[in-house]
Amino acid sequence: MLQALALTALFAAPSLQSAIPKKFSPLKFAKDGTFQIAVLEDLHFGENAWDTWGPEQDVNSVTVINRILNAESPDLVVLNGDLITGDNAFLQNATVYIDEIVAPLVERGLTWASTYGNHDSAYNLSREAILEHEHQWPNSRTEKMVSGRDAGVTNYYLPVYASDDRKFDGAPEMLLWFFDSRGGYYYQELDSNGDEVAQPNWVDESVVNWFTKTNKELVNKYKKIIPSLVFVHIPTNASLAAQTEIGINAHKEPGINDDYTLAQQGEGWCADGNDDGSCSYGGQDVPFMKALIETEGIIGVFSGHDHGDTWCYKWDTLIEGMSVKGNGINLCFGQHSGYGGYGTWIRGSRQILVTESKLKEKVVDTWIRLESNGTTGAVSLNATYGEDFYPATVDLLSSCPTCEYTLA
Ligand SMILES: *[C@@H]1O[C@H](CO)[C@@H](O)[C@H](O)[C@H]1NC(C)=O
Ligand SMILES: *[C@@H]1O[C@H](CO)[C@@H](O)[C@H](O)[C@H]1NC(C)=O
Ligand SMILES: *[C@@H]1O[C@H](CO)[C@@H](O)[C@H](O)[C@H]1NC(C)=O
Ligand SMILES: *[C@@H]1O[C@H](CO)[C@@H](O)[C@H](O)[C@H]1NC(C)=O
Ligand SMILES: *[C@@H]1O[C@H](CO)[C@@H](O)[C@H](O)[C@H]1NC(C)=O
Repeated sequence: MLQALALTALFAAPSLQSAIPKKFSPLKFAKDGTFQIAVLEDLHFGENAWDTWGPEQDVNSVTVINRILNAESPDLVVLNGDLITGDNAFLQNATVYIDEIVAPLVERGLTWASTYGNHDSAYNLSREAILEHEHQWPNSRTEKMVSGRDAGVTNYYLPVYASDDRKFDGAPEMLLWFFDSRGGYYYQELDSNGDEVAQPNWVDESVVNWFTKTNKELVNKYKKIIPSLVFVHIPTNASLAAQTEIGINAHKEPGINDDYTLAQQGEGWCADGNDDGSCSYGGQDVPFMKALIETEGIIGVFSGHDHGDTWCYKWDTLIEGMSVKGNGINLCFGQHSGYGGYGTWIRGSRQILVTESKLKEKVVDTWIRLESNGTTGAVSLNATYGEDFYPATVDLLSSCPTCEYTLA
């Protein structure tokens, strides 16, 4: 509680506000040819504000963020969904938690880009309001490029340019695509029974159409395929199919694999749009999966949502029962970063290290930085990922953040 008050006072101070540059310049590779992304996901700020469990979780989550950012020096932070747990939000202050989340980033002069998750929409919390709140900070690169009730909010892309200004021909070296897999409940809406109205939990077809059209325009404009990474909160059915039909190998796809079976887009919906609990999956993410596979240059799709899964899987086959065949795209989870939300797995953050030289081969390196300051699951998402042998990830639990970390 004290922490929350102190933060409120801090952000009211005009000195900090005026120290922030008005607008950040476009993203660029560093002089050494690298660009590192730290993914923070499932932070779940704002649980049970009236209780001890909740405000305490937020203090602990801030500690995790600080630990990660002390150990790593990312060029961009991706907040990959479920920033806030809107289910328990109060109408009057549902978005103020954004300030607590971004304070460690702002202090370090870092910029970020968000996707919103299913918990970022609730009766008292709207994703539009989160975006508006984010935009009070010039450090936020989050955008909304597709309009319409069914599109969600965080559908946009960010170009990342070369380190060398002389090479600068207008074409980005890499594109980062962000998608909104929606979910949760519509803001301040009740149906005729007085029940909250569920928002579909997949990337809408209007967004898929925007994506393919925009990508085509970029390819035409720059006369080349630009390597890209994708961020979306809820994974697609391809991740579930890999997990259940093929199986995740502890040495070839190192990571925690405890959320079995994992939750995916379209979960709990019927194909006809009914969500009365009679269907387990409606297949609405098929157009999105198809677009991901048909878009050349995508190296990986990074998701959260399933706090107990932290692996990457190279989807390169037609998995039994599916209509979409993988093309070698990597489907990755990160690590539960916040103390809100379910699960007691050790907290952490997936790091993605892109180097200009490897990017040409469509290869990126990645590992998980843990709150204990160790690392785990370091792999190269290269041509032989899925065949290469790595140490298995030790499935550590987090007891409490105020404890001494002797693990890792
Ligand atoms: C939001 O409002 C609730 C209810 O008044 C309060 O308990 C909680 O502390 C507030 N949260 C913040 C971060 O100010
Ligand atoms: C955490 O790890 C980083 C990177 O390996 C290292 O530079 C730093 O000294 C470590 N911090 C602590 C507190 O051990
Ligand atoms: C919405 O916020 C109001 C005002 O704080 C609160 O009274 C109400 O319980 C909240 N409703 C839900 C569903 O969280
Ligand atoms: C979804 O995944 C399951 C395996 O878990 C598979 O049987 C099913 O055919 C898949 N459906 C689609 C539309 O991808
Ligand atoms: C992929 O990376 C792994 C780990 O660094 C390495 O052992 C393997 O040889 C690499 N594969 C290729 C094709 O470079």
